[in-house]
Order: sequence, then C-alpha cells, then structure tokens
Amino acid sequence: MDYHNLVAIVTGGASGIGAALTAELVARGARVVVADLDPAATDTAVAALPEGPAVAVAGDTSDPAVIDAQIAAAEKHFGPVDLYFANAGIGGAGGLDATDDQWATSLNVNVLARVRAARALVPGWTERGSGHFVVTASAAGLLSQIGNATYSTTKHAAVGFAEWLAITYGDAGVSVSCVCPMGVDTPLLRPERPVDDDEALMLRTVESAGTVLSAAAVAVTVLDAVARGEFLILPHPEVLDMYRGKGADYGRWLGGMRKLQRVMRGTLS
Ligand SMILES: NC(=O)c1ccc[n+]([C@@H]2O[C@H](COP(=O)([O-])OP(=O)(O)OC[C@H]3O[C@@H](n4cnc5c(N)ncnc54)[C@H](O)[C@@H]3O)[C@@H](O)[C@H]2O)c1
Repeated sequence: MDYHNLVAIVTGGASGIGAALTAELVARGARVVVADLDPAATDTAVAALPEGPAVAVAGDTSDPAVIDAQIAAAEKHFGPVDLYFANAGIGGAGGLDATDDQWATSLNVNVLARVRAARALVPGWTERGSGHFVVTASAAGLLSQIGNATYSTTKHAAVGFAEWLAITYGDAGVSVSCVCPMGVDTPLLRPERPVDDDEALMLRTVESAGTVLSAAAVAVTVLDAVARGEFLILPHPEVLDMYRGKGADYGRWLGGMRKLQRVMRGTLS
C-alpha cells in the first residue's frame, strides 16, 4: 500500500506515538486529522507539520460525537477516511485500590473509544471493500503490566477487540492491525509529574524490560507493517518469544513475572 493521498485519522495525535505517526503519514503523502484532547496542544501539533495535509479536531475521542466530528473534518477537508489509528491511551491507575471511576475512564479511553470508532467507520468500509483500522494496544495486552491492573486489563481488551474485528470483517476488505510495543520514549512512559509507588513500579519495569524505542522509529515500523497488511505489529520483536513462552507454559510464565515484580519492587525501596 502506498500512503500517498490516503486519508487518516490519528487519535492521541498531539503527543508521543500519535504525533510520530502523524508526521510519518504526512511525510509519506497522506492527509491527516490530528485528534487529541486539548485544543491548544492539538493546534500546536498541526502547526508543527507542513501546511495543508493536516487539520486538528480536539475533544475526548471516547465521545461518539467527537468521533463523528473527526470523520466529518476528514471528509470535508480531504475525502473519505481510509485509515483510523485508534491510538489515544492512558496509563490508568494501580491495583485493587483503583476506583470504579478510574476503571470506567480506562475502559472508555483504552477500549470503548476503539469500539465506537469502528462502529462509525466499518459499515462504510465494508460497502467500499476497503479500510484500515489500527489499534495501538501494548505488549501489556499480550503479557501483563506489573503495577497496573487497569492498564493490563484494558490493553488485553483492546487486543481482543482488534482480533474480533479482524476475524469478522477481514473477508469484507477491512484490514486490522494491532500495535503492541514495550517501552517507547513518550510522556506516558516518562512523565514529568510525580508518580506513586505503583506507577513507579510500572514505569521502572517497562524501562528495564527492553530497549526504549523512539516514537519516530515505532511510527516507521507501524506504517510499514500496516502497508503489508500485518495484524500483529511488534516494534520490539522479542515480545513474540515472551508471548510464546506464556502460551507454552502459563504457570512458569506467572512465576517469572512474580519474580520480576519482586526484583523491581526491591529497586524501589
Ligand atoms: N509509551 C509507551 O511506552 C507505550 C507502550 C505501549 C503502548 N503504548 C500506547 O501507545 C498509545 C500512545 O501513547 P504514548 O506513549 O504516545 O502517550 P502520550 O501520553 O505521549 O500520548 C497519548 C495522547 O493521547 C491523548 N489522549 C488521552 N486520552 C484521550 C482522549 N480521551 N481523547 C483524545 N486524546 C486523548 C493525550 O492527550 C496524549 O496526547 C497509548 O494507547 C499507549 O497505551 C505506549
């Protein structure tokens, strides 16, 4: 697939992986709706790109009205949407102390935003016989995230939804990809605000698990793999062996994760 003149929406497009995806899409000749929460940050992200191929739509991407506004902006400025990068995500909150409100927010942003976007786009794509839905999940959606129950659970759900979408609509011409990185150098992994012990445990574990990639490198990997029609996109290839190890012997894998958690907890005290 050649991205030239294709029309894309990238959620979480003002920061990190989303901003890098946007820049790489524009560099490859695509036209992009940059969607993010904060209007000023979203405008600034668009202003940093060459003039013309990108427009900003601000708002909570788990809100169906905001998803409709993203699609309307794409159609008004560029044409029908070819690609949707359901990328916006939040780290969520720790363990059993996470409140129902915190669970609801995580589910909304990390899972239901993806469901609602697919609901809005996939029927038109099946009529047209083409369309690409790209879910940014995480290696935590295949393995787990030490220190963070909401993130682990919602990222598994994001992988599950992407799988279901690929099975259900693949024969109708809809291509689905699921991006599962470990550490990527973005504000999500390296926040400037203070963090509590659970978050410190989570962030330190990700930092120590493998190479922290640049968002720009991840964007190149993702766009190349989407162009090849690949479902599972692993910017850290070693995740495949970890995932195989989990499937081959769940008990052994759980033991290894508990050991890793003990070691990482020890580094905090
Ligand atoms: N950075 C990592 O190490 C890493 C690893 C694996 C997966 N991921 C995933 O990659 C995706 C992008 O994360 P990132 O690392 O670039 O983080 P980031 O914090 O740099 O960017 C996320 C962006 O999403 C936006 N966002 C959050 N909630 C939103 C909402 N409701 N509506 C619209 N925009 C919203 C934020 O404002 C932010 O600009 C996330 O889904 C994250 O879970 C990140």
